[in-house]
Amino acid sequence: MKTLVVGVGGMTNGGKSTLSKSLHHQIPNSCIIAQDSYFKDDSVVPLDSNGFKQYDMLDALHMDTMMREVDSWRIDPHMFLRQQGLKPSYITPSVDTEVYVLIVEGFLIFNHRPLNELFDKRYFMEIPFDVCKARRSSRVYTPPDPPGYFDGHVWPMYLKNRKDMESNVLAMVFLDGLKSKEELLAAVYEDVSQEIQRLKEKDRK
Ligand SMILES: Nc1ncnc2c1ncn2[C@@H]1O[C@H](COP(=O)(O)OP(=O)(O)O)[C@@H](O)[C@H]1O
Ligand SMILES: [Mg+2]
Repeated sequence: MKTLVVGVGGMTNGGKSTLSKSLHHQIPNSCIIAQDSYFKDDSVVPLDSNGFKQYDMLDALHMDTMMREVDSWRIDPHMFLRQQGLKPSYITPSVDTEVYVLIVEGFLIFNHRPLNELFDKRYFMEIPFDVCKARRSSRVYTPPDPPGYFDGHVWPMYLKNRKDMESNVLAMVFLDGLKSKEELLAAVYEDVSQEIQRLKEKDRK
């Protein structure tokens, strides 16, 4: 059995979830683990001196729980797919040649070192400040962003988290999130497919 772990990271509203879902639909035997599912309860997320909830940091996330989920995929991807209600598909009868693909998506996936080390491919989706702010303001979060949250917390934390990530950067493909959804999907799908093909051909004499 062969496995590939793909990381789709980047800023808020960069298009991570959109791209990840499309990749999942196109790649057989793939599944998604999304970091947004691991936020701690609002009651335990602290406020900063300006009264903003400190959501955009690793401390606001149950990273241990997320890592356990990733580990359970790594131990038995076939079982993991079935538990998620996904049906593994085989192009060849031999399970050994199948490549299982885990797509991990989220805004701080490359900042958590034990997770960052697991990726075979890393993509980072970027968009400019004004586009990011506009896209964010058109969405409703739970809890909703209070007035001034983007400028007072989200953007400054993005800059800080990005700097931290870059001090620990491993091979990373930066994606221009202003490109169309179709163009982004085509480029990443092509790249991941090549990697899958390479894995399938490995050891085949
Ligand atoms: N390539 C793109 N071009 C234009 N809008 C996009 C693109 N990708 C995503 N969007 C839109 O931007 C918003 C945020 O996308 P989403 O995938 O949820 O971002 P993220 O998961 O990074 O926060 C959504 O409204 C989505 O439809
Ligand atoms: Mg998302």
